[in-house]
Amino acid sequence: MTMPRVAVIGAGTMGHGIAELFAIAGYEVHLTDILQEILDKALKSIEESLKKVKERGLLKEDVSAVLSRIKPFVNDVCGAVGGVELVVEAVVEDIEVKKRVFAEADRCAPPEAVLATNTSSLPITEIAEAVRPDRRPKVVGMHFFNPPVLMPLVEIVKGKYTNDETVKKVVDYTKKLGKEPVVVNKDVPGFIVNRILARLNDSACWLVARGLATPETVDAVAMYKVGLPMGVFLLLDFVGIDVACFVAEAMRKRGFGGGSCPVIAEKCQQKKYGVKAGEGFYKYPAPGKFTRPNIPKELSDKLDPVALFAPAVNEAAYLLRDGVATREDIDKAVKLGLNWPKGPLELADEMGIDTVVKALEEWTSMGFKELAPDPLLLQLAKEGKLGRKTGEGFYKYAKSVVIAVTETLEKLYGEPIKQLESLITATGVPVYRDPRSGALLWVDVREMRLRFTLSVNKLEKFVEGLQRGRLMYTQCRRCGAKYFPPQVDCPRCKTSDVEWRETSTEGELITWTVINVKPASFSHHGDYVVGIVKMPDGFNVTAWIDADPKALKPGMKVRLVVDRRLGENYITYWFKPA
Ligand code: CAA
Ligand code: NAD
Repeated sequence: MTMPRVAVIGAGTMGHGIAELFAIAGYEVHLTDILQEILDKALKSIEESLKKVKERGLLKEDVSAVLSRIKPFVNDVCGAVGGVELVVEAVVEDIEVKKRVFAEADRCAPPEAVLATNTSSLPITEIAEAVRPDRRPKVVGMHFFNPPVLMPLVEIVKGKYTNDETVKKVVDYTKKLGKEPVVVNKDVPGFIVNRILARLNDSACWLVARGLATPETVDAVAMYKVGLPMGVFLLLDFVGIDVACFVAEAMRKRGFGGGSCPVIAEKCQQKKYGVKAGEGFYKYPAPGKFTRPNIPKELSDKLDPVALFAPAVNEAAYLLRDGVATREDIDKAVKLGLNWPKGPLELADEMGIDTVVKALEEWTSMGFKELAPDPLLLQLAKEGKLGRKTGEGFYKYAKSVVIAVTETLEKLYGEPIKQLESLITATGVPVYRDPRSGALLWVDVREMRLRFTLSVNKLEKFVEGLQRGRLMYTQCRRCGAKYFPPQVDCPRCKTSDVEWRETSTEGELITWTVINVKPASFSHHGDYVVGIVKMPDGFNVTAWIDADPKALKPGMKVRLVVDRRLGENYITYWFKPA
């Protein structure tokens, strides 16, 4: 049986990663670029990346077996596309170059082959016009995210001529690569994710240009307050500021409103392109060598996240209103394409639609006419659909935490409660203090029910425990039963006379398995080792095990690790072999 064959044209940042993905999925990959040395460098990067994938236990085959499926073609688009079923073009973001490549691929590829472009911003329809009319229905956008091996999303963009069969085929290819597809119904500049990202880049840039923030402050807010994996300026450095400038310029040429902000443009002029140049907004040890800069967490209090994110939310509202994608797909695309913990519409609901509208009005009053609140936001605000706090915004919510807490207290006291003071929401457990009694109230996210206690001491201990990022359990003082996860009341004897304790940091591995976590439910997709660990404190904990499953043995000691890399929102507990 012959191996299915694909061609990848362009072996740069994106092309080499896309080639790697197809090779992992079992395809023979014809990889072409204009120079031998670019192909050599690409193959070396693919090998390094494959080794990392292997180390993480995500590759069954040997690295060399996967590599042997990638065949380099030097400056030979025609040779590379011979006998392939799919061509993915990832050459520079220049419409003329792309058109030439497509004309050549059309001439030499089998008539049934699909021709896809990884363009970030250029019109699929215009690229399709470079091929013969009978091929145009087979031209489509297949937009990967950087780095393709790690980012779960592929945007599949329909041009004017793209037919449904082509979209279906590319959806199938995407799934075979282990990625999640989102279909973009209209060929708008920047599709979904880059439009939303462009608004965030712009607002960040103007906040700095107007002296209201520094790049570090913006990045601290984005990472530590909102939970993005990289700050706005750090991501610009990571992607390449030159790429961002090309993309922004191409989008502006096609009518995407907004002026060019000097802070990013200056870096482009100075050729300080970010990681690839060794310097951008931050400095790196050497060109191409990425290390995370130190961005102090304290800075995250110096800027209102709503001012920074409102323009991105506005763009998402426009995309929804214009039918470019569904509400769920817009949020999914941003969560999987940029690894945000929440989509922009979910964020809007959390921030409050009225608060977002107000922030946009402020931007507009400063002369940013393109940031006038979208009619959809205005309509939601008018209807009182302000997001989580009212039970409905872009999405419907069972009942907002604040409303549930307020209603419970009102029932208890028989009179209205004016305002609840929120103590902590960052750990994902919202806790409110009732100003009258001092009682602390919180929603048990596991059981989805409201719990409250007048025993302030105990709940504060619980919250403190979360803040410190330790694993806590409770022990009933009456019957001695231990509960993990902790319980405010002892479920057995119904008393709140429980003691809060920290677990030991070492346990014994009983059993484990590898599970596949699907992207739709969790932003970190892929295979994970999940094990049961017996703690000396007398209970079993089900947890992630950070190790190659082959290295695990029953009875081995494992040590608790708390990961707070992504800020307080994302405390993760896992175990490593001790
Ligand atoms: N190949 C294989 N594995 C790799 C790798 C590679 N090239 N690079 C890193 N890894 C592995 C690491 O070894 C590490 O593994 P362990 O957890 O086992 O140690 C794991 O991946 C995570 O890497 P890091 O710990 O180094 O870094 P991280 O936790 O910050 O994750 C990231 C990296 C996934 C890139 C994350 O920072 C992130 O999501 N950043 C945002 C990226 C983003 O938004 N991309 C889209 C840009 S926009 C775009 O692409 C569209 C456009 O058109 C311009
Ligand atoms: P890059 O500059 O790293 O790579 C482009 C490669 O194309 C270069 O190696 C170049 O030599 C090669 N090339 C140019 N003309 C060619 C031709 N005629 N035939 C064969 N190869 C040719 O750029 P990149 O960042 O990989 O971007 C490639 C495409 O992917 C662009 O359309 C870009 O907008 C898009 N994209 C980039 C990113 C990103 O974060 N960098 C993310 C998603 C999509």
